[in-house]
Amino acid sequence: MASTTMNVPVALRIPSFLLLLIGLAPTVSFAPPRRAASAPSLRPAHQDHRFGWNRLYNPSGAKFIVDNFWLSSPQQLLLGDQSAADIPDSSYMSLRNVQFSDLQEKYGERLTQRKLDALMIAALDEEDELAGMVTLEVVVMDTQTKELMSASTSEFRITQSVASLGPKQRREFKNAHVIDIANELLPPTQTAVVTLSNLCVSPTSRRKGIAAQLCGEAERITRESLGYSALHLRVESSNEAAKRLYEKLGYDVVFESVAPVLRVDANAGGFIEIDSETTIMKKELS
Ligand SMILES: CC(C)(COP(=O)(O)OP(=O)(O)OC[C@H]1O[C@@H](n2cnc3c(N)ncnc32)[C@H](O)[C@@H]1OP(=O)(O)O)[C@@H](O)C(=O)NCCC(=O)NCCS
Repeated sequence: MASTTMNVPVALRIPSFLLLLIGLAPTVSFAPPRRAASAPSLRPAHQDHRFGWNRLYNPSGAKFIVDNFWLSSPQQLLLGDQSAADIPDSSYMSLRNVQFSDLQEKYGERLTQRKLDALMIAALDEEDELAGMVTLEVVVMDTQTKELMSASTSEFRITQSVASLGPKQRREFKNAHVIDIANELLPPTQTAVVTLSNLCVSPTSRRKGIAAQLCGEAERITRESLGYSALHLRVESSNEAAKRLYEKLGYDVVFESVAPVLRVDANAGGFIEIDSETTIMKKELS
């Protein structure tokens, strides 16, 4: 849907827009919140449990993703000719539960043991309601096999590469940055990258620049807090709206590959993997 207010500065349209961080791994540190008329006010959510726990990393965060990503994408994300309007209540609740478990697994309960950073960023509208979200995760990318590994596989590879060293060498890598571990110990075609995923904005808030702001904040955190000089993402090649957004924000195509993606099985109330053409994009962060 085209916006009628495309050229109006974002700050005028959503004056009290907030971006919040939650689910941070222990190695992450924050710059103090920024306060500027033209910029959203930022708040690390681990210092603010009201937002951290009540907004994304909880069942209503899962509801937001189910409602606004899985069931409200212009792309058909339901299997076959299933329609969001026809989902039985029990399947809908099941989807939310599955989504919540996924959030907990990726961003929540392993927090203190996590080796690779993972975090969520939320955007609130002026009524303090969730308007959008995005997640960041460090994973291993293999440029030869054109693969972005899952977070759990990536963590296993990184951990194993250090564990297989002798005690003296292991000590040398004890506090090393993941990039250095990956570059030194993994095969030359593999490296650690930060990936942006789960970007979604509620349908009523779209085309107001919220996704662009979320990406901007994700880029800032990637550079300043996580210490990486580039941000990667995977987008389904058929998702024209998202690809246009990323191109506009300065992301370039790195490679294309067929990869497993999820689809909603509305009858079963869960998700299944299918293979889809995907595009890996990257933005260098100066
Ligand atoms: C894709 C999505 C995140 C965009 O969110 P948004 O807040 O509406 O995006 P923005 O307002 O920041 O858009 C910035 C620019 O991206 C491009 N863009 C965004 N949505 C677009 C659309 N539907 N069609 C074409 N271009 C689009 C435009 O260039 C836009 O600038 P403009 O409004 O000045 O023309 C949102 O539509 C969404 O949640 N979609 C469903 C989930 C999804 O596909 N996520 C991406 C997963 S990789």
